[in-house]
Amino acid sequence: MAEAQATAASAAPAKAAAVKPAAAKPAAGHGDAVNIGPSAAELAMVQAPMTRREFLNYAFLGSLGIFLVVFGGAFFVFALPRFGAGEFGGVFDLGLAGDAIPGTEDAPKASTAARSWVSNTDQGVVALYNVCVHLGCLYGWEPITNRFECPCHGSKYEKDGTYIAGPAPRSLDRFVIRFTDANGTVLAETNAQGDPLEIPSPNALMIVDTGKIIQGKAHG
Ligand code: FES
Repeated sequence: MAEAQATAASAAPAKAAAVKPAAAKPAAGHGDAVNIGPSAAELAMVQAPMTRREFLNYAFLGSLGIFLVVFGGAFFVFALPRFGAGEFGGVFDLGLAGDAIPGTEDAPKASTAARSWVSNTDQGVVALYNVCVHLGCLYGWEPITNRFECPCHGSKYEKDGTYIAGPAPRSLDRFVIRFTDANGTVLAETNAQGDPLEIPSPNALMIVDTGKIIQGKAHG
């Protein structure tokens, strides 16, 4: 009997422990580890499916980003100079004006690289594009007649490129000339009409800009 009572007495605390409700967790104190899990709102955001509007917004922003990258790249490539110095379509440094330009009584000087004739008259100097404006043949200087003549269909031009005769529809085209000092400061430059340019000094540097062509005047 006494043994049964002892067994019952030892079982009682175990039962009490089994039914005892869980004690509330103590508030975290300074230095205690705190488990910070996602809040209910965060869980809802993670689990919520993307709406159609959100998808369209993301698609729009993605497309905009791609467009800006492609457009920016194209703009960068376009902004680069298309021709380097000494390359036809770019600028040619012909050296000192006193050396590069013939006298007013002399025959025009050919510059093969710049595809031009440097021709000097009492009105000034011009750089003529060496291609005939009729159908694109290369014309040449005829010292006997003192003019330019095209071998293909016989168009003729004055020393400054002005049309004289033949099937060509206009005078010869000209490139812009720039004279600079040794520091690169521009001393004189061909105007928009392509008028002959006065030589500021025989020591000026002469540059022919084959990227800037001025069409000859139509005749008739
Ligand atoms: S191409 Fe020069 S006259 Fe025809």
